[in-house]
Amino acid sequence: MTVQIKYKNNLLNKNTANLVYFADDKFNISSLKKQISSTEFSFISDLIKTKDIKREILTFDISSKRKIVLVSLKKNITSSDAENLGASFFDKFKDLKQNDFGINSDTISNRSKNILAYFLHGLKLKSYLFDKYKTKKDKKNMQITVTGKNKPNLKDQIKFKAIEDGTFFTRDLVSEPGNILHPDEYAKRLNLLRKDGLKIDILDEKKLKKLGMNTLLGVGQGSIRGSYLVTMEWNGLKDKSKPLAFVGKGVCFDTGGISLKPAKFMEDMTYDMAGSAVVVGLMKSLALRKAKVNAVGVVGLVENMPGGNAQRPGDIVKSYSGKTVEILNTDAEGRLVLADALTYTEEKFKPKFIVDLATLTGAIIVSLGSEYAGLFSNNDKLSNQLIKAGENVEEKVWRMPLNKNFDKLIDSKNADMQNINYVGGAGSTTAAQFLQRFILNKTPWAHLDIAGMAFSKYGGALNSGGATGYGVRLLNKLIEDNYE
Ligand code: BES
Ligand code: MN
Ligand code: ZN
Repeated sequence: MTVQIKYKNNLLNKNTANLVYFADDKFNISSLKKQISSTEFSFISDLIKTKDIKREILTFDISSKRKIVLVSLKKNITSSDAENLGASFFDKFKDLKQNDFGINSDTISNRSKNILAYFLHGLKLKSYLFDKYKTKKDKKNMQITVTGKNKPNLKDQIKFKAIEDGTFFTRDLVSEPGNILHPDEYAKRLNLLRKDGLKIDILDEKKLKKLGMNTLLGVGQGSIRGSYLVTMEWNGLKDKSKPLAFVGKGVCFDTGGISLKPAKFMEDMTYDMAGSAVVVGLMKSLALRKAKVNAVGVVGLVENMPGGNAQRPGDIVKSYSGKTVEILNTDAEGRLVLADALTYTEEKFKPKFIVDLATLTGAIIVSLGSEYAGLFSNNDKLSNQLIKAGENVEEKVWRMPLNKNFDKLIDSKNADMQNINYVGGAGSTTAAQFLQRFILNKTPWAHLDIAGMAFSKYGGALNSGGATGYGVRLLNKLIEDNYE
């Protein structure tokens, strides 16, 4: 299913099957009188008495092929209300045969003008479908033509399209199975982002070895595929000011390694690269909308496999930071990938802040389910900005504790630290506490554990199930509201 949105100045094509008008929360349609034909008006005024006006979307069949749709906008409608309304519009009409709509923006009051941009954004986000591997494709296509003087302005059209394209790119990457999107293929796809204006640098195994990124390399050493660290730079300010940095866990498939996971639901671990995919989608969005900001995305791409050359429990490796880690469980691999990526990012780019994203722990799903990502941070300002941005776009985060008292749980007898704690609980916090040890210069840093957010079996307000793209809109909002 695809949705095409076009903006036109002229009156609607007479053949447009369905006409969409907006009304207030009581479906008071008197203001419509000026906008639509008198036959249409008397038709609606009569039939509306038979409708349940508690609903937000009413449809009036003019013929078997033609409808008038009335969408009510409540008084203090918020941007996310409007997005959700657009999403329900999509759900309501997605199976309709005559699937083209003309939206008359003149029926929206000037005051709630930008509401239409959010409505269309929600509609578009909800329409995403990953059917690449279905031999019978859903060829349906919803055509939407928006006319009238209250159309979203050109700047908003470009901005929302950029966020949609970024989010869809993230969803595509997360949806791909492990046999297709292995680290070699992933690195190739990232290289193509040069065409959007991103500066791409791909560090392969040889370079990583030279740099001493052994905790990252250790995770990938059981795989026949390569391991990579890829950096993506967006220089929207065209100067040398410090960038914002985003770091993502890109475990293309997580079998657990020698500490093998049980068979049931192991297939879910195809989305264990979601953190990296959010970073990629965000960078793409920033480039597409030419954001006035300097930003860098850094992703560690590996496949965690058992095998003759795989890392063993008990192995001790030296990280890029110089700190040594005893691997007690090869399934706690995400933190090993991020450890080197974080130190490298801090040292190489000297960023204003670092936000990392990872499907890091099952424990965060126990704590927060699929409503909030876990936020762990050394900085209150950055935390509050993330919390606020999250509430705004309905991609919520909940702050969880970091504290030096947890450190004893990951101190090791044989090395500087161990990669898991078998006692003491607090699995998501000890993972975050582990990551914090690799921020060497007190850079403001926030870690988002998105294990419960990246994939939705049943779908949510703005996604129809599968990869959610959670995080792209959150971080875009963080940047838009605070750093542009
Ligand atoms: N990728 C998993 C975490 C995960 C679990 C993500 C469920 C999404 C859904 C991670 O690499 C992992 O295996 N974590 C272990 C850590 C443990 C060995 C300390 C976990 O959560 O069980
Ligand atoms: Mn794991
Ligand atoms: Zn993992």
